[in-house]
Amino acid sequence: MERIFGRPIVTQEEMRARIKELGKQITADYAGKDLVLVGVLKGAYAFYADLARAIRIPMRVDFLIVASYGSRAKTSGKVKVITELTEDVRGKEVLLVEDIVDSGLTVQYLMKTLAKQKPRSIKVCTLLSKPDRRTIDVPLEYVGFKIPDQYVVGYGLDYQQKYRNLPYLAVLDMESNPE
Ligand code: IMP
Ligand code: MG
Repeated sequence: MERIFGRPIVTQEEMRARIKELGKQITADYAGKDLVLVGVLKGAYAFYADLARAIRIPMRVDFLIVASYGSRAKTSGKVKVITELTEDVRGKEVLLVEDIVDSGLTVQYLMKTLAKQKPRSIKVCTLLSKPDRRTIDVPLEYVGFKIPDQYVVGYGLDYQQKYRNLPYLAVLDMESNPE
């Protein structure tokens, strides 16, 4: 696998340990609160499943399916929300679970959209953040790993809809995967 996907920049072990920590933190922060964990699909599916099971309070799960236009190795900046929440989040604490925050456009758009449903709070938990690429200053309450400006795949993240099933995070080898 490594020959095709490149070397891991975050291994499965590092991922597991960090997600456990995030779960602990979220458990403490949301104790006694009415939490709805909202996963942003498809990218967040792997992280979400692990994170949800690391959170030890009764909470609700929900998902948004979001597509960005185009499928190239950069963000087009336009976001389309394909589905709606099934839970009523009015008055509840929403924690948005993302795979990666790059420019910040997606998170900003989703926060604005969710705010219309009047939750008590909206916060963001992202597995990855690329601070060098940020064009919008979005508040990120929980960040798994900060990574440099490199295109990564695996653990839910794709390149042209593939590699999401890679069990670790790797830098995409552009030479063997030309656009
Ligand atoms: P933003 O709107 O620029 O913050 O982009 C967020 C979205 O861009 C993520 O949800 C991903 O779908 C995609 N993205 C950004 N960087 C990467 C990457 O390195 N690998 C895979 N997808 C990425
Ligand atoms: Mg995504």
